[in-house]
Amino acid sequence: MAKDLVRIGMVGAGSISESHLAAARDGAGAKVVAVCDIIEERARRRAAEFNIPEVYTDHRRMLEESDLDAVIVGVPNNVHHEITVNALKAGKHVLCEKPMAINTAAGEQMVAAAKESGKILMVGLVNRMRSEVQTLRAMVDRNELGKVYYAKAMMIRRKGIPGWGSWFTRKEESGGGPLIDIGVHALDLAWFLIGCPKPVSVTGHTYTAFGPDRRGLGSWGIPDWTGYYDVEDLAVGMIRFENGAAINLEVSWALNMPPETRINVIGEKAGALCTLDGNVRFFSEVDGELVDTTRQGSKVSIFQAQLRHFTDAIREGKPVLTPGEHGLTVTRMLDGIYESAATGKEVRLD
Ligand SMILES: NC(=O)c1ccc[n+]([C@@H]2O[C@H](COP(=O)([O-])OP(=O)(O)OC[C@H]3O[C@@H](n4cnc5c(N)ncnc54)[C@H](O)[C@@H]3O)[C@@H](O)[C@H]2O)c1
Repeated sequence: MAKDLVRIGMVGAGSISESHLAAARDGAGAKVVAVCDIIEERARRRAAEFNIPEVYTDHRRMLEESDLDAVIVGVPNNVHHEITVNALKAGKHVLCEKPMAINTAAGEQMVAAAKESGKILMVGLVNRMRSEVQTLRAMVDRNELGKVYYAKAMMIRRKGIPGWGSWFTRKEESGGGPLIDIGVHALDLAWFLIGCPKPVSVTGHTYTAFGPDRRGLGSWGIPDWTGYYDVEDLAVGMIRFENGAAINLEVSWALNMPPETRINVIGEKAGALCTLDGNVRFFSEVDGELVDTTRQGSKVSIFQAQLRHFTDAIREGKPVLTPGEHGLTVTRMLDGIYESAATGKEVRLD
């Protein structure tokens, strides 16, 4: 093993661990030396698949016994907090899957633990790694779209409820439905692309039309037919920012509409449309005539780019693109949408 490879412990050997472990196998400056899952058979299976020497069923034991630089947290949302805080306290850098936490209070403790430890807390807001997203953000920073005042983010699945009855659809363990599961990506992208302004207020609404009847089921996750469904399947929200900008968000796991992913970023000089297919389309006006252009980005393996970014930051002491503080602001906005939906009122965040 090359000496400068970052030694990683993977916590959680479920679906998403495959993306992280494949990224490490394919060269991202990391060597996974341990894998941990409370279901031993899952950890053993991943260890065999990815040639990982150490297997654990308790992350605390892994933190004590294994010689690790960093931990990747890929467990149900409600467990992110405990494992991340323990890993940071044990002096490990952490790459924690999205959403960073099921609520703001847990996220705040994670950020505080990172500050105290001096270690990196990176949140797996992996879509920021897309080349077209980085290109567009750089263009916004260079004022090429003019003043950016509005963004619309949509992630609409028509039939995509993950793991019915499992932790995904139980609010206590997931924190919510599509809003926290995929809305976290959509909202984060829109917020990142308009330059991460300070949110001041949120309104939102949620609907549950499919899940309780076991309709709208997708293929991600492992269903548990003894479980239950107490989360939304559609969420809408509007966030206002200190600089006057606003984001409109619409996300669903199940909806009687065609599936759609889009982030619209609207500036005074040009609007941009990202559909996460590698390209960005631009809409503007020259000499009174409408001009539409497409910029073709390069295809990026986003999990590999994310892991490479994390290991480079550890080795070189550089800041990360998706720090805990950003994950926390996104969590505040998501919490605000849920609170507004529950109370029927606007929620102030300032
Ligand atoms: N970045 C993305 O686009 C993306 C995609 C899918 C999932 N995720 C996130 O990844 C996380 C895991 O999702 P998944 O689909 O892999 O779920 P999963 O249910 O397939 O896997 C979770 C695993 O964690 C294990 N686990 C639970 N508690 C544990 C503990 N205390 N210690 C060790 N292992 C424990 C479970 O036994 C299970 O094997 C979630 O937070 C999810 O939001 C991110």
